[in-house]
Amino acid sequence: MNRWYTKEKRLEQLEDHVSATRTARFGFTAYAESDKIHRVNHHFNTIASRYDLMNTLLSAGIHYAWKRKAVEMLMIRPGDKILDVCGGTGDMAAISASRTGHTGLSLVYDMNRKMIEQGKQKFMKGVTFVQGDAECLSFPDESFDAVSIGFGIRNVTHLETGFKEIFRVLKRGGKMCCLEFSKPDNPFFRFLYDVYSFRIMPFIGGIMTGSKEAYTAFPESIRAFPLPDELSLILREIGFKDIIIRKLTNGIAVIHSAQK
Ligand SMILES: C[S@@+](CC[C@H](N)C(=O)[O-])C[C@H]1O[C@@H](n2cnc3c(N)ncnc32)[C@H](O)[C@@H]1O
Repeated sequence: MNRWYTKEKRLEQLEDHVSATRTARFGFTAYAESDKIHRVNHHFNTIASRYDLMNTLLSAGIHYAWKRKAVEMLMIRPGDKILDVCGGTGDMAAISASRTGHTGLSLVYDMNRKMIEQGKQKFMKGVTFVQGDAECLSFPDESFDAVSIGFGIRNVTHLETGFKEIFRVLKRGGKMCCLEFSKPDNPFFRFLYDVYSFRIMPFIGGIMTGSKEAYTAFPESIRAFPLPDELSLILREIGFKDIIIRKLTNGIAVIHSAQK
């Protein structure tokens, strides 16, 4: 049942390896580098209509608390301009919008049309949706006071490019938070989490969305992703400073907050 990747394998998610091999993983399966984005898009097309419900069901609602904690770390003030990259149906952007007030701006940036449409149906006050690729943000340098990315960077083909884009559009002194799944610290808890992830999650996912595969690739991608310290190193190399790691629910989810 132990399917957690070794460090060597986890680091295959980084751009050097992706460019050298021209392959990129989505879950445990390696695809052509140029195909991963289409696989990811297909995945979210399949689950978009049930995305919010599935998150709440599979996490027993805890994902809202995780998202609130991540946004808290941005220390948003009224009037701020906030970008939520890979923002999906807009949960984090909605929390940001409640803090920027009507003088600020809270944007969701996501490549998947269906996820955006689901988000728009929630009629969240003060949230604007923009469609585009996280590897090529359509904003000038230093446009935002803070940028969030929640459960998104794992899906981006060139991980460092995604973070470099966030760094580029942040104002000097601006804050970034990255909320992502990771490896629970406690071995027994991790065992239970593994059983849940590979036995129960795909089963519920299959019933609810019709795609067992989507909810198999999802836990796989978590196990292939760099651990918090490894991610910190990447952020530091890009130029982020004051990096703080905050583990949630025994490390199932982790927030990296940092400053430009
Ligand atoms: C797991 S969802 C997270 C959504 C939201 N942040 C949340 O926490 O509920 C990941 C989102 O990232 C988007 N995404 C994945 N790769 C992307 C890319 N290269 N550019 C923009 N969006 C991307 C997907 O379309 C999807 O909506």
